[in-house]
Amino acid sequence: MRADWDRRARIDPRYWVAATADADDESYRASALKDAAALLHGLPAPLSPSARVLDLGCGIGRMSAELAGRCAEVVGVDVSPEMIAEARRLHADKAGLRFEANSGIDLADFTDGYFDLIFSYSVLPHLPEDVLECYFLEAGRVLAPGGLFRYQFWIGARHAAAAADTLTIRTYEAGALARLHADAGFELLDTETIDYFDPLLEMSPVWVNARKQREPLRRVAPPAPRDAEAESSAARQLEYDLLLYLALKHGDRGEIDDAERVIEQAVAVDPARGEGYVQWAAWRLAAEDLKGAIGLIEIMNREVPDSPHGWLYRAQFCELIGDLAMAHYALSRLHALAPAEEELLAQAEALQAKLGSA
Ligand SMILES: C[S@@+](CC[C@H](N)C(=O)[O-])C[C@H]1O[C@@H](n2cnc3c(N)ncnc32)[C@H](O)[C@@H]1O
Repeated sequence: MRADWDRRARIDPRYWVAATADADDESYRASALKDAAALLHGLPAPLSPSARVLDLGCGIGRMSAELAGRCAEVVGVDVSPEMIAEARRLHADKAGLRFEANSGIDLADFTDGYFDLIFSYSVLPHLPEDVLECYFLEAGRVLAPGGLFRYQFWIGARHAAAAADTLTIRTYEAGALARLHADAGFELLDTETIDYFDPLLEMSPVWVNARKQREPLRRVAPPAPRDAEAESSAARQLEYDLLLYLALKHGDRGEIDDAERVIEQAVAVDPARGEGYVQWAAWRLAAEDLKGAIGLIEIMNREVPDSPHGWLYRAQFCELIGDLAMAHYALSRLHALAPAEEELLAQAEALQAKLGSA
């Protein structure tokens, strides 16, 4: 979890915590105001000036910073030291607000009953299930009697994810949530639908208000250690898509250095996908760096050898630099894949005719 989120934070922490459609500073700021307002408006009672508040999975303090000054103390914890370092840098001037990196599975730095409110936004649904259970038990432990746990969640038909997946949204049926609450000593107060519909999951997330009724039934038992190399292909694909989206947004705004930095990360996350190389090569070409563009398509041919588009680009580029033998070879690789796409075949044929007459 730490490695995954540190990697994301190093690329662009604002994008990774808020994932706004515009992927820019302005929309990040607007999301912070909107989500913090929703957090506060949905509390069953106004936030007390003497309250101690924990932001679980605080990221770079997007929401906790909005609460600073409204109560006695706000603490943000996050598994990613990179996120915490950025949170501290951004909000160094705010009194009553501090950020700490935590283990990613418990709240061991805090004594029993310390907080009056724990909130968590866009964190719990990304967690492996055994880690989620640990955090419910820990929230029950570190909240004062009657304290409130307010968190964003997805309740409905079950969508699971691999244990190593730290990105895909997991959804839970109401019964599973009731068990988590019962074990951790919470009573469900209410839920409130958040104004966002996920077309893939076919549902909207909710804010949940749960009150601490009694102490948790048990203390956390750390989840079994996982293979650090274990990978989730669903998470990898999603991370790639989100990085590609961010890179294209930079590209649209003419921020080509940023676009290339992000696309480099995308192809590192999944070298076996072709889109990133093609887009990156297009930016190199626009910068009149034909050699760089060809180098990227060569990597694509090696990593994605079954992409006919990759071989067509290779053939076209090689024809441009006069490497006709390589251009012929690339076309033969393309035809060996027997692609059905008419437009692609027409382009290959046109190139073949040009090479033939050369
Ligand atoms: C989508 S971001 C949301 C950040 C923040 N809550 C916000 O709304 O701006 C998810 C955050 O959860 C953190 N996170 C992921 N797994 C965690 C874990 N096991 N324990 C603590 N934080 C975790 C990540 O590092 C990341 O900062």
